[in-house]
Amino acid sequence: MANESGSSPATLGGLLRSQGVSRRAFLKFCSTTASLLALPVTAVPAMAEALSSARRPSVIWLSFQECTGCTEALTRSHAPTIEGLIFDFVSLDYHHTLQAASGEAAEHAREQAQHENAGKYLLLVDGSVPLTEHCSTIAGISNLQMLKDCAKDAAAIINVGTCSAYGGLPMAKPNPTNAVPVGDIITDKPIVNIPGCPPMPLAITGVIAHYLTMGALPDLDHLGRPLAFFGESIHDRCYRRPFYDQGKFAETFDDEGARKGWCLYKLGCKAPTTYNACANLKWNQGVSFPIQSGHGCIGCSEPRFWDASGVYQSVPQGQFGDGAKLGAAAVAGAAIGAGAAMLARKKKTKLDAEDPATQ
Ligand code: SF4
Ligand code: SF4
Ligand code: F3S
Repeated sequence: MANESGSSPATLGGLLRSQGVSRRAFLKFCSTTASLLALPVTAVPAMAEALSSARRPSVIWLSFQECTGCTEALTRSHAPTIEGLIFDFVSLDYHHTLQAASGEAAEHAREQAQHENAGKYLLLVDGSVPLTEHCSTIAGISNLQMLKDCAKDAAAIINVGTCSAYGGLPMAKPNPTNAVPVGDIITDKPIVNIPGCPPMPLAITGVIAHYLTMGALPDLDHLGRPLAFFGESIHDRCYRRPFYDQGKFAETFDDEGARKGWCLYKLGCKAPTTYNACANLKWNQGVSFPIQSGHGCIGCSEPRFWDASGVYQSVPQGQFGDGAKLGAAAVAGAAIGAGAAMLARKKKTKLDAEDPATQ
């Protein structure tokens, strides 16, 4: 993003000033982000200072088997937000949908960014990776090869969306392209999963803000997700929860219970086993989220979405008891590293594959 003189501000503070963002609004953003990232209040001034003087990090964004929904979620806000400006601030050196360059010039820009920022750039990926040959190529390069090439010199990888984090819709049965998530291929880099179909924009920019401020990735859970955004189930934060606890359920989408806003569990709400920040952050800048709109959560940010269960099939209660315990265990293990998280995720995937109940 360029300022009045036509050049891009070198620091994030410069960009925010050039966009008319007041110091007060910026500090409010820092304080909200610090609280979401579970940082102490005392960290806010340091975060503000670090973000203000942060220099543009290089980002390469690869899109493989995806629907562009993840990019849309991040770029389709109706009014400029500070989190949107932070995203504008990064040096997005390669993004299939957003870049102006095409053909050889685009691939040249990617190679140049990789070469000039070796060991320092962030690699963002949306979409799963097909292992079947010729299913998806960019500039004649298979997705698998491009991922390996770009991951080699990356400082860290951020999987944006359920497709790159867990395989998502392309990996759903019968998985015709033999799709896999990024973590099944790249095992020697720190990886953060920000699942969701699409993921919450603030979770993406929150992770980037943490990286800009701390020079490191945030704490992750056993599935490689930032605990700050995925530490609690939606069920635990849902405003309809008192109805669940009282046993008041909508039985159909147009009955008296539905009109009164009762719990959607019997209509297939998957939120008891879904970990995401939808209930507290909401979508469209805090306007609403699926359950508030009258439809149950379909578990779009969990592994094995879409195959896990039918959209309108209730989650067996015994299952989400276990899920809640898993979540608590994840919070207790907050310091788990990204590498260990990926190993744990792989182990879980293997266990799932061996469990006939999940077939
Ligand atoms: Fe599209 Fe969902 Fe995959 Fe994102 S996670 S690319 S929104 S299908
Ligand atoms: Fe809310 Fe769904 Fe839990 Fe009911 S089952 S309280 S609708 S999250
Ligand atoms: Fe997805 Fe459920 Fe949130 S369907 S958008 S995780 S409420």
